[in-house]
Amino acid sequence: MTRAALCAALLFIACSQGHLGRQTDSTRVVPPPSPAPPGSPNTAAAMDSGIITPKEIALGDSVFNGRAGEGICATCHGRNGAGTAAAPSLADRSWIHGDGSIGFIKGTVIQGVQHPAQHPLPMPPFEHTLTDRQLQAVAAYVYSLSHK
Ligand code: HEC
Repeated sequence: MTRAALCAALLFIACSQGHLGRQTDSTRVVPPPSPAPPGSPNTAAAMDSGIITPKEIALGDSVFNGRAGEGICATCHGRNGAGTAAAPSLADRSWIHGDGSIGFIKGTVIQGVQHPAQHPLPMPPFEHTLTDRQLQAVAAYVYSLSHK
């Protein structure tokens, strides 16, 4: 318990220092309820500047569709993000909670959706389930679904 609290405190300090050179772009991501998630300083701006390589998308595909990590986004969003009764399609160009940018997508995966607008159950946060590498890759994959 104490060790976890200490870790959280250290992380928070590290994150707030990292934020000193904050880019205005990252303000588009909805602020999390708790201290900034690890990796957030390089969220929107860095991602928009193009780490969307075929290799990244392939890794994201395996995270999304459940072959690597514990992403299993497909359980709710359907295979290849086609949508199910539990969660919306991610392959069209309409977005319920944001602008469809890679920063928005990654922020949503990190935080989950506590209060869905059109679906019965919330989306869990993947902040601690996926590594930062997997989060970036799955965001790149989801982005690619509606930008073919
Ligand atoms: C337990 C079911 C569930 C899982 C698992 C899940 N989601 Fe979601 N997701 C949802 C729900 C519910 C919403 C919000 C729908 C609403 O507001 O009506 C959502 C919303 C989203 C949105 C925003 C969509 C929009 O139109 O604004 C993105 C992006 C997203 N999810 C990506 C993912 C990714 C990537 C994963 C895997 C890492 C994932 N989700 C796993 C249920 C899930």
